Amino acid sequence: MYEQVSHSLLNNILDDLKPEIRRQDIRHFYTRLGANFYAIYSLFFTLYGQRDDFKTQMLRLVETMAKGYIARSAELEQSDIAREQDHNWFLSQQWVGMALYTNGFADNLADLANKTQYFQELGINMVHIMPILMCPTGKSDGGYAVSDFRQIDDRLGTLNDLRRLAEEFRKRDILLVLDIVLNHTSDEHEWAQKAINGEQRYQDYYFVFGNREVPDMFEQSMPEIFPESNPGNFTWNEAMQKWVMTVFHNYQWDLNYSNPEVFVAMLDIILFWANQGVDILRLDAVAFLWKKIGSTCQNERNAHLILQLMKDCCQVTAPGVLFIAEAIVTPVEMIKYFGEDAIIAKECEIAYNATLMALLWDGIATQNARLLYQGVKNLPAKLERATWLNYVRCHDDIGFGFDDNDIRAAGYDPYAHRQFLVNYFSGQFEGSPARGMVFMHNETTGDARISGSMASLVGLEAGQETNDQALIDNAVKKIVLLHSLILSFGGIPLLYNGDALGVINDYSYRDDPHKSNDNRWIHRPKINWERAELRKKQGTTEYVLFNAMKKMIAIRKETSAFADFNNRELVDIDNQHLLCYLRFDHQRPSERVLVVANFAASPQYLDLALLRSKGIDPFTRFVDLYSGRQPAQYDRHIVLQGFQFYWLTQI
Ligand code: GLC
Ligand code: GLC
Repeated sequence: MYEQVSHSLLNNILDDLKPEIRRQDIRHFYTRLGANFYAIYSLFFTLYGQRDDFKTQMLRLVETMAKGYIARSAELEQSDIAREQDHNWFLSQQWVGMALYTNGFADNLADLANKTQYFQELGINMVHIMPILMCPTGKSDGGYAVSDFRQIDDRLGTLNDLRRLAEEFRKRDILLVLDIVLNHTSDEHEWAQKAINGEQRYQDYYFVFGNREVPDMFEQSMPEIFPESNPGNFTWNEAMQKWVMTVFHNYQWDLNYSNPEVFVAMLDIILFWANQGVDILRLDAVAFLWKKIGSTCQNERNAHLILQLMKDCCQVTAPGVLFIAEAIVTPVEMIKYFGEDAIIAKECEIAYNATLMALLWDGIATQNARLLYQGVKNLPAKLERATWLNYVRCHDDIGFGFDDNDIRAAGYDPYAHRQFLVNYFSGQFEGSPARGMVFMHNETTGDARISGSMASLVGLEAGQETNDQALIDNAVKKIVLLHSLILSFGGIPLLYNGDALGVINDYSYRDDPHKSNDNRWIHRPKINWERAELRKKQGTTEYVLFNAMKKMIAIRKETSAFADFNNRELVDIDNQHLLCYLRFDHQRPSERVLVVANFAASPQYLDLALLRSKGIDPFTRFVDLYSGRQPAQYDRHIVLQGFQFYWLTQI
C-alpha cells in the first residue's frame, strides 16, 4: 500500500461526498481526516480490502465521520480543541470515578441529575452510568443486550434527560462515561429481527449457520462465558431454522465485524453518543470482537485492528472523546488494548486493570501480598498516554485471572490456589467471614468466579449480623485499605456504587425470575438514601467509611505523585504481608510518596534499610499524608497496625 493510493482514493471520496456534506464548512474535519486517512485506509483495507464493495464501504465510512462531525455542537468542538492541546489531561491525579446503575442510584436520569451533589460531596468527578439503552425486559443482561442503540430505556428517561444530565455534569466538571455494547445486540434488535425474517443482508450482520458443522468447529476451541446458565456459544433459532453465535446469553447475538457494514453502523452509533456530550465511551467486551475458527475467539489481532480503526475514525470526528477498553483478560493480553505503538497503533486510552483487581482480592483472602507483589511486578509496561482504570468491585463477577507463573512464583499451585480463593470468598473456607456467591462454576474446567458486594466479601455483612464489632472494624479497615491502593497506584480509580457507604449484598434478586439465575445481581444494589444519611452521623459505619473515602480522594487530588506518568517503583521488601511502592512526581522526582499497605490482621513492620537502594535514608522521618501524623517509628522500623496503610512523605 502506498500513500499515493490512499490519497487518490481520498480525493475520489471527497468528490463523491453527498452535496449536503460538501456544502458545509468542515475545515477542521478535513485537516483531521487528512492526517488520519492513511491509517484509516490501511486498516480498512487490511480488514475489508478483498471485498468488491471496498470503495463503496470506504465512502460510507468517510460520510459517517463527516455527518458525525457536522452534528457535533460548537461547545463540544471547543472541548475537543482544548483537549487536543492538553492531550494528557486524563493522566492527572485529579480524576476519581464511580460506576453505577441509574436506577441503583436514583429513580431515573432526571433524578440522577438532582443527586450530583453526592458526587461532589465525595469528590467524584467521573461517572460511569451503566447501560441505559432499550433492552427487552427479562432478556437484558443488565443493559448489555441492547435492542435499540439510539433509544433510552423509557423507564430511565429520554434523550433530553440525558443531554440535561451531560450539561449538568459539564457545569460541575464531572466527566460522563457511557457504554457502547459493541460485541452483540439483543435478538430483538431490528437487525436481528430482519435476520429472523430471512433477510440475508441482516443475517450477514451476525454469525448464522444452517447446520452444526461450522458451529461445532468453533466450539472446539471457544471457552464458555456463562457455562451454567448458557452453555455453548451457539443458539438454535426456531423461526430462522438456523444456528446463531451467542457467546454470552442465548439472546445476545454476536455481531460479525468481518462485514464492513457492521463496522460502519457501529461507528455511527459511537459518534452519535459522542455527540450527546459523552466524554468517555466504555467499549464493552472488546476482547471478543473478532471470531476465528481454531482460536478462543478472544484477543484476536483483528479485534485490535477494529479498535484502532474506531479510534482513528473517532479522532477525526470527536477527538476529545476517550475510549475505555473492557477486556477482562490475562495481563499480557490486557495491555495490548492500549495499542502496541503510540504513533501508528493507538487503541483505547484507558483499560480496566482487572489484574490488579483480582490481585487485591488475593491479598484479602491470604492476608499477604506475595502474589500481589509478583503480579504488580510483572504487569507489562504500558504506552505513554494510556492509563489504567483501577477498581476493586464493579457490576461484574470477580475472576481470578492472574498469570499462572505469578501464582507459582508466589509459592502456590495455580489450580489449588484458585480453588482456595473461590472457597474463601464464598465463605466455605473455615474462618472466612466472606459472604460471596460462586458464579458460573464450570464442571469441565473446574473454573469459577465470585459475586458479592465489597462489604460482604470483606466480612461487614457477617459482622453486622452477629454484632461482632471487631469483625465490623476489620471490614471497614479492609475497604479503606483496598481503596488506598486504587487511589494511589497510578491510573483513574473507579469506585463502585455503594462501596463508600458499606452497602452489603442485596438478596432481592432471588425473587425476580428475570434475575434469579444470575447472582451478579447480588452486588448491584439500590442505594437507600435514608440509610445513606448515616454518613453524616458520627459513630456509624457509614460515617467512618464515607469520611475516610472522602479524605483519601481529597488528598489524592492534591498529590501530583499520584498522577499516572509511569512514575511508580515497586519496592522489594522482606515482609510478605506488606505491599510497598514509591510514587514520584514525574517532573520533580524528589517529591515522593511511599505507599505501604498491611494485608495482615496483625501489626507488621517495614525495615527502612531496604529503601536505601531507592535513595531513601533509613533514619529519615516521615509524615503520613492521610492521618497527618508521623508513623510509629523505632530505630529503622516503621510499624503498621492490622490492615493499616500509609501514604508517607519525607519531612
Ligand atoms: C461485559 C459486561 C457484562 C456483560 C458482558 C456481555 O463484560 O460488563 O456485564 O454481561 O459484557 O455484554
Ligand atoms: C466479561 C468478562 C468476564 C465476565 C463476563 C460477564 O466480558 O470477560 O470476566 O465474567 O463478561 O460477567
